[in-house]
Amino acid sequence: MPRKLIAGNWKMNGLRGTGGELARDLAARARSAAPGCDLLVCPPAPLLIPVGEALAGSPVQLGAQDCHAEPSGAHTGDIAAPMLADAGCSHVIVGHSERRSDHGESDAEVRAKAAAAAAAGLVPIVCVGETEAERTAGRALAVIESQVRGSLPQGSGAGPPVVAYEPVWAIGTGKTATAGDIAEAHGHIRDLLREILGRAAGDSVRILYGGSVKPDNAAEILAVDDVDGALVGGASLKADDFWAIGASCP
Ligand code: PGA
Repeated sequence: MPRKLIAGNWKMNGLRGTGGELARDLAARARSAAPGCDLLVCPPAPLLIPVGEALAGSPVQLGAQDCHAEPSGAHTGDIAAPMLADAGCSHVIVGHSERRSDHGESDAEVRAKAAAAAAAGLVPIVCVGETEAERTAGRALAVIESQVRGSLPQGSGAGPPVVAYEPVWAIGTGKTATAGDIAEAHGHIRDLLREILGRAAGDSVRILYGGSVKPDNAAEILAVDDVDGALVGGASLKADDFWAIGASCP
């Protein structure tokens, strides 16, 4: 079983003052008591450099929230994966449901971004997850399957990608999937990864759960089979909560 990864997705929150303070707080905790899991924070792009400086010398890693599929070029406002690597990132989230809905990102675009991330030496965190309507219609597993098949990078990168299962209806709502639903979704994703990548490579991919993970539900979620960590939004903005989620890793 791989070591668990707890990733904080700060989304569009934080300024240099608050973001720097949060990062310094986490870094100080991680320096004085080695966490029992891998910790990653993904601040907004303008905070990557100051947050990276605050995390220096601590085991907390730095990630970004999106990247472009091209390594450079005429793409105003976009950020290329090599720039993220140059800023000190080890990971980048791609295909978050907010990007899929706000920016109309397709599986093919997400795959191209994931491939670009891997080519730049970053670990892509590829997000998948069904909407409430899709779950109610009994299509959750089919939707997850088609997103995994369509969004995972093909070919070799720096290492295995990470997959994040985030039911859209659980993100930022306070609703979480049941342990049974999470086990079913993660088990299905594991089977797909083994089929697509081969058994050993499929087993080496960490599958995170995301959607209203909080200190009071983290231990139950993190104990579910094939849950190799969590992608945490709201609760990653408070050092106490994010640290408590990390401390819930079995
Ligand atoms: P949440 O967000 O923890 O606030 O539900 C999770 C995510 O969107 O990654």
